[in-house]
Amino acid sequence: MGHYSLETARSLDQSDSLSHFADRFYRQPGQLYFDGNSLGLLSKDAEKSLLHMLDEWKTLGINGWMQGDPPWFYMAEHLAARQASLVGALEHEVVMHSSTTVNLHALLSTFYKPTRYRDEILMDELNFPSDHYAVSSFLDRMGKDPDTYLRIVPSRNGRTLEESDIINAMTNRTALVLLPSVLYRSGQLLDMALLTSAVHEKGSLIGFDMSHSAGTIPHHLHDQQVDFAFWCTYKYMNSGPGGVSTLFVHEQHHHLGPGLAGWFGCDKKKQFDMDLSFTPSPCAGAWQIGTPHMLSMAPLAGSLDLFEEAGIISLRQKSLAMTGFLMRLIDERLADHHFTIGTPRDSGRRGGHVALEHDEAVRINEALKARGVIPDFRYPNIIRLAPMALYNTFEDIWHLVDILKEIMDNRLYEQYENKRGPVA
Ligand SMILES: Cc1ncc(COP(=O)(O)O)c(C=O)c1O
Repeated sequence: MGHYSLETARSLDQSDSLSHFADRFYRQPGQLYFDGNSLGLLSKDAEKSLLHMLDEWKTLGINGWMQGDPPWFYMAEHLAARQASLVGALEHEVVMHSSTTVNLHALLSTFYKPTRYRDEILMDELNFPSDHYAVSSFLDRMGKDPDTYLRIVPSRNGRTLEESDIINAMTNRTALVLLPSVLYRSGQLLDMALLTSAVHEKGSLIGFDMSHSAGTIPHHLHDQQVDFAFWCTYKYMNSGPGGVSTLFVHEQHHHLGPGLAGWFGCDKKKQFDMDLSFTPSPCAGAWQIGTPHMLSMAPLAGSLDLFEEAGIISLRQKSLAMTGFLMRLIDERLADHHFTIGTPRDSGRRGGHVALEHDEAVRINEALKARGVIPDFRYPNIIRLAPMALYNTFEDIWHLVDILKEIMDNRLYEQYENKRGPVA
């Protein structure tokens, strides 16, 4: 098997049935964007749907709530339903609402109901810090000291988790397990089906933070009987900075209702009765609290057109081909430069990005940025590189590794300070 070359990249692009989608995005000339796992790029479709929303506000004013196309009153349900097939949910099991972390709080308020016998939450030490802050503060507010009631599964290597360690860490006191679908640093994909059935067998509930997998990996939330999930849409789904999050509540739990109620969680038919007693919506819509953030949801309408056209199965296939290509180029072309790939190689165990570890990661990251590459850095030693199936090319990946090779061969990173910015 020969080494990969620029020609390999070009021929992969030529045979790529999704390559035409790149033209629908604002790719900046001279820039190689590899940070779609933090903030996806703007598509022309998303721009159009945002402008459409502004125009409706301009022309309809308050009437947009019922006369908008689609009516704003149903937008959070409507745009979530359009994501249902991406995550394997039924349409009434999802709704868009607020930010990811707020949704975790809202879901905990329903799913963490400690009893005399079961009162612990199980998490892992590699989950995103905001999830830890949310769970700890939630427990605190319930009068349960997180040092006692929050059990943390350690990682054996600081990068990945063993599903068996998670399952073995459960005790007969575990009420709830909260895990990431894909780990934000290493990009490991956990076996959600295995974990969900093991957690249920032990009589507990399970929820997933799918921020790093929604829009890049097909999920089966309903069929796998995941109890709840939540994700942000500004990463792989390209909804824009601070784009509204989406949550999933399995239909078997809809009767539980929200713990943090607000008027947008009302049954739509009753919301404007202005009753002082709360009648929850019969679906996941009940977990909304206040007025939906229309302008922060609007770009997703256009963005979802692209997902519907491309299909999540094809997007996943291309994403795996791209991360596979990137890892092989790193192996072949950067072998002498002491990089470690922290992402599992097995395609069933990795998400949409590659975590490149190096002792000089901060300075290498700066050198990449100075040469028009947009990666991201995660403390202390990880450069995350996410080739996006919708708008990156195999040739982009080739040039990225070429630039990286030049930086390493000539030790160009030494010209940069070993100092990270406040957003890194
Ligand atoms: C895995 C994960 N969970 C939660 C969050 C927090 O999301 P939000 O700022 O929307 O609350 C992020 C943000 O990047 C994330 O990557």
